[in-house]
Amino acid sequence: MGTPGYRDHPIDEWDPDAPVDEREAEEFLRQYHDENPATGPVTARWAAVRAEIAATGTYEHTPAELSYGAKLAWRNASRCIGRLYWRSLHVVDRRSARTPQEIFAGLVRHLEIAGGTDVRPGNRDSRRGSIRPVVTVFAPAKPGESVARVWNDQLIRYAGHRRPDGSVLGDPDRAEFTATMELLGWKGKGTAFDVLPLIVESPHDGVHMFELPDSAVLEVPLTHPEYGWFAELDLRWYAVPAIANQRLTIGGVHYPLAPFNGWYMGTEIGARNLADAGRYNLLPVVAARLGLDTSSETTLWRDRALVELNRAVLFSYERAGVKITDHHTEAARFLEHVAREEKAGRQVPADWSWIVPPISGAATPVFHRYYHEADQRPNFYLDEEARELARAGRWWASPSPRW
Ligand code: ARG
Repeated sequence: MGTPGYRDHPIDEWDPDAPVDEREAEEFLRQYHDENPATGPVTARWAAVRAEIAATGTYEHTPAELSYGAKLAWRNASRCIGRLYWRSLHVVDRRSARTPQEIFAGLVRHLEIAGGTDVRPGNRDSRRGSIRPVVTVFAPAKPGESVARVWNDQLIRYAGHRRPDGSVLGDPDRAEFTATMELLGWKGKGTAFDVLPLIVESPHDGVHMFELPDSAVLEVPLTHPEYGWFAELDLRWYAVPAIANQRLTIGGVHYPLAPFNGWYMGTEIGARNLADAGRYNLLPVVAARLGLDTSSETTLWRDRALVELNRAVLFSYERAGVKITDHHTEAARFLEHVAREEKAGRQVPADWSWIVPPISGAATPVFHRYYHEADQRPNFYLDEEARELARAGRWWASPSPRW
């Protein structure tokens, strides 16, 4: 099941052929009833579920259980700093979607709801950019049956086109996946920000490729509050970060396709996606434009470039009316979440190395303490096969390679 590196996502053991774990089912149902007293005692429901598992190997969540379970999965996501809002998660139940076309329609709808681009005539653009946290839950795995999935790691990401000299135009992290898409017949526009197609694989219909419509892809061109030249860099980023390849597990039931999104924290874009040496690697470019002395590390040119890049991200999203948050505000809100949870008698599972932002760590309050490290379910998990499909667009160790 792989050896997780220290920044890898926790991997739990999952046997797709095994029946639902009764203990997990019971634990979840008790928690759901305990935390929602209006649902009454769990007794009758647990008896019914136990019988259903005995007869079929699994059970079906009610819409209310599904909704609360998905919220708990967010509440338990140790790496997420934005969990204060866990109760506000908008849960879309698409368990009945089967064909790649139905699934793709659900994915497009997800992005429209999340980005506020689901506008109807007469109500134009009123919500555009007011990002809403959404999870869309597709069919659960049934013991011994295969189920649909999406290969992409996020619903929206930019391609990385490898040039003959080995350099990459676009996002180098996506270079292998992009090359596979090209083998499958896809051709991007050839810019540094080509939105990748989605690959939907379903048991009966195989592998299908879809291009996202413009209505689903809200983007923000980047400018700087003071430096006019910043616009000339021709940078942009998308509004909705929607993880597409993690398995949602609730009460022993596994949902391999359950894309979810929040809104961005600026540092994800300005201190990682655009800044990492293995991503868009823009610090030398920004430093040169700023006229900084890059001949010595002690001038802290990287740090100064980082700050201006991050200012540009926050400024541009705000100006475009696209919801975003900064790391100072979000760190304070996270500690508010921890305090609220403790008041409710619960500990907050958290991973320090993910909660502390990638710039100005100690200038935020989340730096100065330790956290309860625990893997609690419901949760989201990244399976090794899903990780490899997202990295390269294929699964080499598969017993029946596709090509
Ligand atoms: N860090 C990832 C990215 O930059 C997105 C992860 C989820 N982020 C979020 N704010 N919900 O694309």
